[in-house]
Amino acid sequence: MSALFQTFALKGVQLRNRIAIPPMCQYMATDGLINDWHRVHYPALARGGAGLVVVEATAVAPEGRITPACLGLWNDTQAEALAPIAASIAAAGAAPGIQIGHSGRKGSANRPWEGDDHLPEGDPRGWATLSPSAVAFGANLPKVPQAMTTDDIARVRADFAAAARRARDAGFKWLELHFAHGYLGQSFFSVHANQRDDAYGGSAENRSRFLLETLAAVREEWPEHLPLTARFGVIEYDGRDEEMLAESIELARNFKRGGLDLLSVSIGFSTPEANIPWKPAFLVPIAGRVRAAAGLPVASAWGIDDPHTAERSVADGQLDLVMVGRAHLANPHWPMHAARQLGVERPTWILPAPYAHWLERYRPA
Ligand SMILES: Cc1cc2nc3c(=O)[nH]c(=O)nc-3n(C[C@H](O)[C@H](O)[C@H](O)COP(=O)(O)O)c2cc1C
Repeated sequence: MSALFQTFALKGVQLRNRIAIPPMCQYMATDGLINDWHRVHYPALARGGAGLVVVEATAVAPEGRITPACLGLWNDTQAEALAPIAASIAAAGAAPGIQIGHSGRKGSANRPWEGDDHLPEGDPRGWATLSPSAVAFGANLPKVPQAMTTDDIARVRADFAAAARRARDAGFKWLELHFAHGYLGQSFFSVHANQRDDAYGGSAENRSRFLLETLAAVREEWPEHLPLTARFGVIEYDGRDEEMLAESIELARNFKRGGLDLLSVSIGFSTPEANIPWKPAFLVPIAGRVRAAAGLPVASAWGIDDPHTAERSVADGQLDLVMVGRAHLANPHWPMHAARQLGVERPTWILPAPYAHWLERYRPA
C-alpha cells in the first residue's frame, strides 16, 4: 500500500493523494491579470493527477509583485479572472490552491530569464520597494528598499486580508501565505533584513509579529472550514542554522495557535551569503523535525522528484504532502508515472475518468 497515494483530509478538503504542485511563478501576466497562458497551464497541471495545485505567488498589492509580469489579487477584476482557473483545477480532480504574497525588497525585478535582477533605476515598469528596514538584499538585487512605517505595516496586513477574501470569492479552497524565500514576510523574520528597533524587530518574538498579525487578519476573512496554510523558510543555511530552526519551530507553534492548518517548510533565501546543501530531498529531514516539534502537518519541496524518495518521506512520517515542482513542469503526468514506478495497483484511478477508462480498458493482461 503506497503512502504517497493515500488520500489526505485537511479541514473540509480531501486530496486524492499526497502529491502537491507548489506555487511556481509563470511571469506571464499583464497588470496582474491572468491570460490564455494561465488558462492552459493550470488545468493541464491538475489533469495530471496531483492532489493539490497551488497557483503561483499572487501579489496582494501592485508593489508586492516580484516582476511586472506577476499575478495580482489587489482588485476584483483580477479575482473574477481567476475564478475559472480555480474551477478548472477542481474539474480536473485537484484541490485549487493559491499563494498570496508580497515581494518586499526583492520586487521590481526582471523576469528570471531576462536578468533576474532589479529593473534599472528610472525604468517606468519599476516601483519603490518596501521592507522592514532600508537594507538591500545585495548581489543581483541591490536596490535599497524603503523602511516600512507602522501605517505601511497595517496597510499590507489589510491587503493580505482583502486578497484572501478575493481568493475565497474566486473559488479557491486552499490558501497559502507566502512568508518564505526572502520576500516581505520572511524579511520581517530575518536577522539579515530586519534591523528595526520597534515592536516588529529585535527578538524572535518581535520579528514574528508581522507574520502572526497577518495570519490573524487573514483568518478573519478566510473560511474556517477551508485549509489556511503558509510557506516559510525555517532555515537560511547562513551559519545560524540551529538557532534559527529553534526560532522557526516556536513560530510554527504560534502559527498553529493562530489557526494555521499546515506549514510548507522551505528555505529563507534572505541573504546571498547562504551556503545551501543542494542535493535531492535535502530539506525533508528538517521538515520532519518541524512537523514533530510543532505538531503541525507539513509539506515540503526541493528535489523530491524520485517517486521512491517521495514515498519514503510520507511513509516515514516526515511529510504530509510532497511538493513536486519542476518535475511537473516537465511532465504534468508525473503522478501517473510515480504510481507505476511504485507498483500502485490500478494507477489509472488517479487520472480523470475519461483517461482512466481507456487506459484501463486496453491494458495488456
Ligand atoms: C519557475 C519557478 C517559479 C517558482 N515560483 C514560486 C512561487 O511563486 N512561490 C514559491 O513559494 N516558490 C516558487 N518557486 C519554488 C518552487 O515552489 C519549488 O519550491 C522549487 O521549484 C523546488 O521544488 P522542485 O525541486 O520540486 O522544483 C518557483 C520555482 C520555479 C522553478
